[in-house]
Amino acid sequence: MSTTRRLHIGPSILTANLLDLGNEIAAAETAGVDFIHLDVMDGRFVPNISFGPIVVAAVREATSLPLDVHLMIEEPERYVDEFIAAGAERITVHVEASVHLHRTLSRIEELGAMPGVALVPSTPLSAITEVLPMCAQLLVMLVNPGFGGQAMIPEMMSKTERARGLIDAVNPACLLEVDGGVKAENIASIAAAGAETIVVGSAIYNTQQTVAESVRALRVSLDMIDQRVD
Ligand code: DX5
Ligand code: ZN
Repeated sequence: MSTTRRLHIGPSILTANLLDLGNEIAAAETAGVDFIHLDVMDGRFVPNISFGPIVVAAVREATSLPLDVHLMIEEPERYVDEFIAAGAERITVHVEASVHLHRTLSRIEELGAMPGVALVPSTPLSAITEVLPMCAQLLVMLVNPGFGGQAMIPEMMSKTERARGLIDAVNPACLLEVDGGVKAENIASIAAAGAETIVVGSAIYNTQQTVAESVRALRVSLDMIDQRVD
């Protein structure tokens, strides 16, 4: 594989200390992360409820890093305008949650944000064939969405590889993002499978290590793969 692909790491703030969110984000930014991932959950598409546009707007004030908003909500088309107005640069909606997906992605693009589409583990890649040409980002979920701190589903490695092949064939400009269960121990193989935008929650925000230590451990693992594939 090529080493020219730039690997981006972004923390999911879901497992951060929300009472201290400004400092949690600043610590990640100082540690050199590339974007901030925000998990929006509605209690319907996924069992959990998290936060909405007000928090996205608050995070917008706290950082100049790109905001990558992952909408785990039914009918995301009802809310994309609001999230973009709150400052999101990238909006990812689930193929399972938006019937008129083409229209939803078009609307995101029309408003000047990057349209992304996400797949839960049980959804085949074929579900996005018709919209991949218009996507700036394809998110392959490595866990069933809803909670941080879950283990990656091993079969998702081959799905990531197949997603890489599909993107290379159909829309090489589209970024391949992965989310869920990424740790220092598996990030190198996930990157080798072709992911370039990597979301990390509990392996960055946890009580065992500082944010700086955690991000360094992830980078060290990635550097190892970069050297190996030269
Ligand atoms: C899962 C979320 C993920 C999650 C990542 O529903 O979309 O972004 O918070 O957290 P970890 O890395 O702990 O799996
Ligand atoms: Zn997410």
